[in-house]
Amino acid sequence: MHRHAARVVLAAALVLCAGASCAQTSRDGGMPFSADEQRRILAHGPWPPPRAHDPGNAQSGRREAITLGQALFFEVRLSSNDIFACATCHEPALAFADGRSRSLGRGLLDRNAPSLWNAVHERWQGWDGAADSLWSQSIRPILHPKEMNASAAQVREFVAGERELACRYRRSFGKPPSAEVEDEAVLVNVAKAIGAFVATLVSGRTPFDDFRDALARGDRRAMARYPAAAQRGLKLFVGRGRCNLCHSGPMFSNGEFGDTGLNFFVRPGEVDPGRHGGIAALRASPYNLLGRFSDAGAASPVTTKTRHVEPQHRNFGEFKVPSLRHVALTAPYMHDGQLATLDAVVRHYSELNLERIHADGERILQPLHLNEGERADLVAFLGTLTAPDLQSWRPRARPRDACTVDALRPPA
Ligand code: HEC
Ligand code: HEC
Repeated sequence: MHRHAARVVLAAALVLCAGASCAQTSRDGGMPFSADEQRRILAHGPWPPPRAHDPGNAQSGRREAITLGQALFFEVRLSSNDIFACATCHEPALAFADGRSRSLGRGLLDRNAPSLWNAVHERWQGWDGAADSLWSQSIRPILHPKEMNASAAQVREFVAGERELACRYRRSFGKPPSAEVEDEAVLVNVAKAIGAFVATLVSGRTPFDDFRDALARGDRRAMARYPAAAQRGLKLFVGRGRCNLCHSGPMFSNGEFGDTGLNFFVRPGEVDPGRHGGIAALRASPYNLLGRFSDAGAASPVTTKTRHVEPQHRNFGEFKVPSLRHVALTAPYMHDGQLATLDAVVRHYSELNLERIHADGERILQPLHLNEGERADLVAFLGTLTAPDLQSWRPRARPRDACTVDALRPPA
């Protein structure tokens, strides 16, 4: 090529790349990703995934139970001193998390409250996977002395004493929550209604999802709308960073547990056993999918994961690989909120101390030695995993039906 012409082409490329939507150029007409990278990117979709139900919960997907569950989710009278509701630690405006490093109920908990968006698509619930369904996960905070500190009897009496709740309860479960019914059975049903509500929290599409689908269609124009920094961050995520080996699939999580070399002390001299303790708690729980309260028959395929889970030495200090959808809204990070920002998380992976990783499993993690620009690119990419409408979620208006008790109606 003529020297002058080459300079003109180069100048044109520089001009193009000054814009916000410039991707890394390559010989392939501007396609910034190799065939292998494209395949890995496509594996993070499509979104939303097929609809899922809360396992072992016959009320999941039923409108009446969802209405009841939503009311109970925001109900402080489910706690012993009328202060705490599920929503205290899972606030809608904070992506159903609480913005604290460790949650505060009646006492300070050892862990960070996860977001409840898309929890129905999680394989295990809790950082240690101590629950195998949304309804069983909902029982612990109601009873736990550091959380809502209620009892099954108190929960039954409360629901029985509220006309509208009692009516919706009866319509969902066939029988009223009267004193003849076992308190524990009412507690479980309350948890199933709450689980049915939480199962409705599935987030919308994100800028990443639009980019991913544009890539699937080969629509370069639509792809170009995805910011260049996010494209570079994505390339690191599925490439040199190998983040996608654990944060895989549409949820950006493989649904399993890992050790990322973080400190897991709860207090001096006391560690959080993580997944190891979670498996023990799951197996001992009367509320797991194999127990008598589960609506899934013993032969149901949803019970398989619970039936076969076995604690192994490597599970000690492992925590759930969290989904990265809307992660930009849920600082601080990690199971105990020990990292304040996404930049701190990326820096952690960049500077990793391999001696801190005790699990004897596969060695996926290596210090990445990312420079400042690369770290910013990864953070920019993580920022595109948030649906724009996520924070405008509002509770559904209560239906006016045979159960509705009109608060304004004068007493008869
Ligand atoms: C005092 C704060 C607090 C209250 C109240 C609370 N939670 Fe949580 N929630 C947490 C914390 C902390 C975790 C992480 C627990 C763990 O890893 O063991 C959690 C975990 C969860 C999870 C698992 C999510 C996941 O992705 O792993 C679900 C579901 C959940 N809570 C639902 C509820 C419901 C429903 C209620 C009300 C019945 C409730 N929570 C009340 C703090 C709270
Ligand atoms: C070996 C599996 C593995 C790999 C590889 C991995 N992660 Fe993680 N990631 C985890 C686990 C496990 C946690 C939770 C650790 C904890 O809380 O103790 C986590 C937590 C996170 C969090 C915090 C999310 C939250 O809600 O608190 C972010 C952000 C994150 N990882 C991003 C990345 C990025 C970016 C990469 C690539 C540079 C990466 N991860 C590579 C397993 C992995």
